[in-house]
Amino acid sequence: MQWAGFAYLVAAICFIMALRGLSHPESARNGNRFGMAGMAIAVITTILMPNVVSYEWIIAGIVIGGVIGAVIAKKIVMTALPQLVAAFHSLVGLAAVFVAAAAFYNPGAYDIGTAGHIAVASLIEMSLGTAIGAVTFTGSVVAFGKLQGVFGSKPLVFPGQHLLNAALGLLLLGLVVWFCMVQEPWVFWAIVLLSFAIGLLLILPIGGADMPVVVSMLNSYSGWAACGIGFTLANTALIITGALVGASGAILSYIMCKGMNRSIFNVILGGFGGESGGGAGPAGDDDRPVKSGGPEDAAFMMKQAESVIIVPGYGMAVAQAQHALREMAELLKSNGAQVRYAIHPVAGRMPGHMNVLLAEANVDYDDVLELEEINRDFSSTDVVFVIGANDVTNPAAKTDQASPIYGMPILNVEEAEQVLFVKRSMSPGYAGVQNELFFRDNTTMLFGDAKKMCEDIVKALER
Ligand code: TAP
Repeated sequence: MQWAGFAYLVAAICFIMALRGLSHPESARNGNRFGMAGMAIAVITTILMPNVVSYEWIIAGIVIGGVIGAVIAKKIVMTALPQLVAAFHSLVGLAAVFVAAAAFYNPGAYDIGTAGHIAVASLIEMSLGTAIGAVTFTGSVVAFGKLQGVFGSKPLVFPGQHLLNAALGLLLLGLVVWFCMVQEPWVFWAIVLLSFAIGLLLILPIGGADMPVVVSMLNSYSGWAACGIGFTLANTALIITGALVGASGAILSYIMCKGMNRSIFNVILGGFGGESGGGAGPAGDDDRPVKSGGPEDAAFMMKQAESVIIVPGYGMAVAQAQHALREMAELLKSNGAQVRYAIHPVAGRMPGHMNVLLAEANVDYDDVLELEEINRDFSSTDVVFVIGANDVTNPAAKTDQASPIYGMPILNVEEAEQVLFVKRSMSPGYAGVQNELFFRDNTTMLFGDAKKMCEDIVKALER
């Protein structure tokens, strides 16, 4: 089918353009358009293939799936996107298992042989796609549960865990070989069940703070599962798309691992961060006094400042404070201060979370700097305004080896002359650990909702 091959090539180019566009907030919308166009071309081409003999089930699937997807996309709040992504990955994994099962039970329909006499190459692709898909399914369900708070975010660790994982991995490899030799249904389902178990065992030991890397790793796995199934179906679009998802997910995981100073191999093998699950310095049982202030105090301090760095975090997203924050920053700029934003690679709950919100509020991209670009400037800054961020400023990551966030690069906010912390209470951040900065002499806590606090500071600045 020459025309189909050409159409798939166009779709693949669209997907590559989509990835390129999504790498910067300014071009992200266009990137999304390319992605949608590519997907439309791929779906229409597949439907028009001559080996598609009836349309009822396809249309029913598109209508039901499309309605569910549209409703979820309309309703989802941005802070819940990581768990939504994890939930969607679980479906990709499960789809890979179902497609492989269909191909195994009806190989004639896929042109890969007859029952009991399937080509060995197809069996290898099928079993690998199934295994990766099944691992992705249960792994993503656990990641969803942890992010949604259905299960505790604490790592579940037990002695001999890595040994057990390695043994099960070897057993899985043995089953794949056995399956290719005997082509028995029980071996196929044993691969599925064992992979389900491995998915659970790989993700359960991972602590909440490390979840972002896991979600992106599962994204990568779901891509490789789709790629494997693409070979079974001899569908080039699926092979290319799966490889793009697999490779970009793996690259993103690598970048995030670097951002959090974790080893990528530990993520792939599971259980990293588990050893530090106990974590020193849990929050909530600390009654040391802190210095607190109100919007008037913050406005006074920032009016005197020549340089201000804003550190946004998850709380800014929850409060949707980005517009009020930009207004505050503009007032400070018009007052003569240099105002910049410092973005930690894992601030918020998804990669690029803060960049998206600041772009939505029309913050100038030149004012938004990544950790490595700005970290040296904190020591020469008058005021740091931390808004709804916590873990990404916690110096325990540099000093406390028992802390679950130990090793994660941190924004050096404590080096500034004055630090203002906007948050509603003394509650900890995502990793559940106390932040020593709250008790420092140069810290002033501004208790309250981030948006309301910014609005009140704006009023005070205008007075
Ligand atoms: P966190 O450490 O989670 O701290 C956010 C703080 O915002 C909390 O301490 C909370 O304190 C405050 N807050 C919540 N709602 C607020 C509101 N309406 N107004 C004002 N403050 C509010 O956030 P972070 O510093 O951005 O760090 C991100 C954490 O999430 C890291 O541990 C990271 O590993 C993890 N994580 C990141 C990602 C990605 S990819 N970015 C994905 C999953 C997990 P109060 O309750 O006292 O207000």
